[in-house]
Amino acid sequence: MTTSRIPGFYKMDVKERRQLLDEQLDLTTEKKNTLYSNEALDLETADKMIENVIGTFQLPLGLGLNFLINDKEYKIPMAVEEPSIIASASYIAKIVRDAGGFKTEATDRVMIGQIQVVGCEDFNLAKKTILEHKIELIRLANEAYPSLQKRGGGAEDLDVRLINETESVYSQMLVIHLYVNTCDAMGANIINTMVESLAPNVEVLTKGKVYLRILSNYADRSLAKATCEIPTKLLATEGFSGEEVRDGVIHAYEFAASDPYRAVTHNKGIMNGIDPVIIATGNDWRAVESGAHAYASRNGQYGSMTTWSKNEAGDLVGELELPMSLGIVGGASRVHPMAKLVYDILDVKSASELAQVVVTVGLAQNLGALKALVTDGIQKGHMGLHSRSVAMAAGATGEMVDMVSKQMVSENQIRVGRATELIKEYSK
Ligand code: MEV
Repeated sequence: MTTSRIPGFYKMDVKERRQLLDEQLDLTTEKKNTLYSNEALDLETADKMIENVIGTFQLPLGLGLNFLINDKEYKIPMAVEEPSIIASASYIAKIVRDAGGFKTEATDRVMIGQIQVVGCEDFNLAKKTILEHKIELIRLANEAYPSLQKRGGGAEDLDVRLINETESVYSQMLVIHLYVNTCDAMGANIINTMVESLAPNVEVLTKGKVYLRILSNYADRSLAKATCEIPTKLLATEGFSGEEVRDGVIHAYEFAASDPYRAVTHNKGIMNGIDPVIIATGNDWRAVESGAHAYASRNGQYGSMTTWSKNEAGDLVGELELPMSLGIVGGASRVHPMAKLVYDILDVKSASELAQVVVTVGLAQNLGALKALVTDGIQKGHMGLHSRSVAMAAGATGEMVDMVSKQMVSENQIRVGRATELIKEYSK
């Protein structure tokens, strides 16, 4: 386990960063080639992954640093196009590290498959009959995917709900939930195979018609939680005391907790940290996104995904719990060459561990945004980074990037035209 604290990583060039990783990781030749290649995904592999391929689309891949989670070091690969995200997450991870690091936990990994049954003559009798045949249906589900039980998982339970009992014929339905421990897989294929295999028996038992047989992405039995406690002295920043920052963060949380207009932006900031890890690990970020937003509405109103408060000692206490439908086997996670390399860098041993890392980054990202918003505002940091992109767009390389971007920020003139002038001037 090498440290995730690498001072000055951001100042190195890409070649130096790659060399450092290469020295730390015991990579196969294939993965070394991926690390040093500028083509993350070759066309042949891409053509096997989806249909109608005409090329590949690349995103920058960076490392979130300084993360200490349950006393383990993590360098967290993040694939994302937005500047400031990785810098901000790493900055907060450094503060939390000095406070002892993040603590995380997770529930069992149980995913849900749904079967929709309509047109039953007697819905209550249909429900009773399904429940009477529960053991048999669970056995049949497991027979449809026998390898899962060999890995220690499998269908474990089944439930029946009646929806819209007194409404119109189209809206009345019986819904079966099949609960499946999918081990280290996200489980979409497993669950879909299982629920599809049960459909004929369900029709016989309910005397109804089965329409949908599909995984639910509302993985509320597969939750991961991250927490942190930060003494105020670690929160102080130029011009703001630690207490001011703490109180500002709590006020910002209360704003998001009570106003959906703010909650959406607050939560977007959380997903700024979550999605890049989901993408880098080859997981389905749409699944995690939709589950996360539904969970943020579980109390009847869309609210904040995180909570921020203070404890008796006055420390800032943060918490983020979310459903995490993701896996470390199957899907793109083991097909995409870059995702394969990402697992070597991240060093997670299970889907549950990955889920805990992901929520940690979400929590850090949220604090990064809130801390900036309640102090200098978001633009200062953004502009610093944006100015670097502008300098590079104007043709600056090496040390020139820093020189030009610093000058543009000090003049508050961040334009390609000004960068071009400065490059000319400094080149003399
Ligand atoms: C920008 O990508 C994300 C923020 O808007 C999040 C927030 O407002 O909390 C800064």
